[in-house]
Amino acid sequence: MIDMTVEIAGVTLPNPVMPASGTYEVDQVHDGFFSPSELGAVINKTIFLNPRPGNPPPRIWETPCGMLNAIGIPSEGLHNFLEEQLPRLRSLGPPVIVSIAGNSLQEWRDLAAAIDGSGSADMIELDLSCPNLEQGFIWAAEKQALAEAVSAVVEETTLPVISKLSPNVKDISEMAVIAEGAGTAAVSMVNSYLGMAIDVETRRPALGNITGGLTGPAIRPLAVYSVFATFQKIRVPIIGIGGIATWKDAVEFLLAGATAVAVGTQNFVNPLVMKEVIQGIAGYIEEGGLSSVRELIGLAHRL
Ligand SMILES: Cc1cc2nc3c(=O)[nH]c(=O)nc-3n(C[C@H](O)[C@H](O)[C@H](O)COP(=O)(O)O)c2cc1C
Repeated sequence: MIDMTVEIAGVTLPNPVMPASGTYEVDQVHDGFFSPSELGAVINKTIFLNPRPGNPPPRIWETPCGMLNAIGIPSEGLHNFLEEQLPRLRSLGPPVIVSIAGNSLQEWRDLAAAIDGSGSADMIELDLSCPNLEQGFIWAAEKQALAEAVSAVVEETTLPVISKLSPNVKDISEMAVIAEGAGTAAVSMVNSYLGMAIDVETRRPALGNITGGLTGPAIRPLAVYSVFATFQKIRVPIIGIGGIATWKDAVEFLLAGATAVAVGTQNFVNPLVMKEVIQGIAGYIEEGGLSSVRELIGLAHRL
């Protein structure tokens, strides 16, 4: 038997594969494809405290081996999330990660306290890194702001806190060290890379928001490097994210030092991808004569 379990901050995940926030709708459960109960964890699209509309269209632009999005995180707000979405997430079976984003330290605190108080979350992920919000502040790009936001949340909750970091910085590993110092129980990396496209027909920026976040296989080598560069600098676990389209891509992240992985853009391309990744990792472990997925974590560092 292959042991696929991994542990993130005291929470046992049945396997290391989960969706990336914003790329997996609880209400569009992959009926007929696979059951979300097979996932390592489930996560919502980031919620804000108050309802917000998101960015003007166009919000999506296809790029070679990826996509730009400037959705801007439309949100129905905390109240609706607690009433409707969270119970659905909880009912799916795997550990529940709730992704939140605050516009101020007080909002971070209020959201964290409410999620903690709901009793329905296993971990809280802080989206400190969305690059395409209209008021465009990337908490994870400023050392002090990052430390303050993480500390504010940690003070409000006993749940493990995951800090989702931005690749739009000089050195993401340094930001991971700061998040760890502020009390984060894990980091997830990466969120999308700031970019843009110009429509040569209209001679205007292609996205309504002008800039957007680049995701998909195009960013994978950059994201793998981020995990590799961070692994030896922190003690808390890393959730590796960025361009995972096959099980081999996921294994790359594990070998680089990720304890778990999240699949994003590829969910739109292949609704079966997460199931295939789980099965592929298990097959790889078996063929390699190993017994546990945990044996893979960070192996690429043994140079
Ligand atoms: C359409 C779309 C919406 C996203 N929404 C969120 C979000 O609400 N919160 C968040 O933390 N990340 C969000 N992301 C970023 C993903 O969670 C992930 O970090 C990023 O897409 C990189 O992974 P990938 O290359 O596998 O897509 C979104 C990405 C896409 C493509």
